[in-house]
Amino acid sequence: MTAPLLQIRDVVRRFGVRRGVFAPRRTLTAVAGVSLDLPRGEVLGLVGESGCGKSTLARIVLGLDKPTEGEVLIDGRPVASLHRLERSRLVQPVFQDPYSSLNPRRSVEAIIGQPLLVHGEGTPAERRDRVAEMLGLVGLGPRHAAAYPSQLSGGQRQRVAIARALILRPALVVCDEPTSALDVSVQAQILNLLMELRARLGLSYLFISHNLAVVQLVASRVAVMYLGRVVEEGDPETVLRTPAHPYTRALLASVLQPRPGRGLPDPQLAGSFPNPLEPPSGCAFHPRCPLAVPRCAAERPGLDPATGEHRAACHFAALAET
Ligand SMILES: Nc1ncnc2c1ncn2[C@@H]1O[C@H](COP(=O)(O)OP(=O)(O)O)[C@@H](O)[C@H]1O
Ligand SMILES: [Mg+2]
Repeated sequence: MTAPLLQIRDVVRRFGVRRGVFAPRRTLTAVAGVSLDLPRGEVLGLVGESGCGKSTLARIVLGLDKPTEGEVLIDGRPVASLHRLERSRLVQPVFQDPYSSLNPRRSVEAIIGQPLLVHGEGTPAERRDRVAEMLGLVGLGPRHAAAYPSQLSGGQRQRVAIARALILRPALVVCDEPTSALDVSVQAQILNLLMELRARLGLSYLFISHNLAVVQLVASRVAVMYLGRVVEEGDPETVLRTPAHPYTRALLASVLQPRPGRGLPDPQLAGSFPNPLEPPSGCAFHPRCPLAVPRCAAERPGLDPATGEHRAACHFAALAET
């Protein structure tokens, strides 16, 4: 067995925050101890409500932020200790907003070719060829090379961002809500493109979305996050057919509604997403949970196997499964 391409080991990220100049400094735990593996060639889908810590974890995987505790290994190497140039050959991001992530003053060709220039790869002619090849792979043509981001649609801009992410042929791509800012009609095209490129170039994705329906389409493994922790993990079919955590069931119910709340938990769920500065005791989900008993407020459930590879952090996981 070869080691997983990506190993996230007990990662914790705390931020010191203060409301005003004279307010006391408080500690916000954005990621509260996450361990996940991504085998080479697979897509790990990470899903959860806004504020649960997905982007913080993504930034740590990308080496853009450092964990307070724990570590991230890509290809067996600690990301935090890699030089920026080494890191950019291993892992690249595709972010939500293609409007702010592309320099408006540079042409598409310059944007996509920039990583090659930084790494000193090829002659100008060779770089132009590789950019042209990349444009073709993401479904754009030679006529787009001279265009500026403002002349492109949202979907086209995200194609440019994808081309830039892939030009160095990284092993791992971190997609953080890559379709959330796009028109619904364009979302499926970009998802299809990402999946096509994954197969063609042998990539692995950490694929992040607040929408379980989107994750379900692309992931070969899914992890559900709630307030900084993974509460359920398994292969998508098992998790969706027999969700073991009440939070996953709430996410699923919202996706299955006639007018799906964009994959957000249904409003019937008691209360709202907790304040991360005052996390609930015990199981963080207990104030909203239909199954909660006093034990849930007192004791945090571990992420235990429900069946085999399927894990859930709920005192009633086994019960829920049947
Ligand atoms: N740099 C930061 N300083 C303070 N708090 C932060 C910082 N980055 C994120 N947070 C907080 O961490 C929590 C998780 O945020 P984030 O990772 O962006 O969640 P998600 O991507 O799932 O919406 C939120 O409560 C957010 O306000
Ligand atoms: Mg986010």
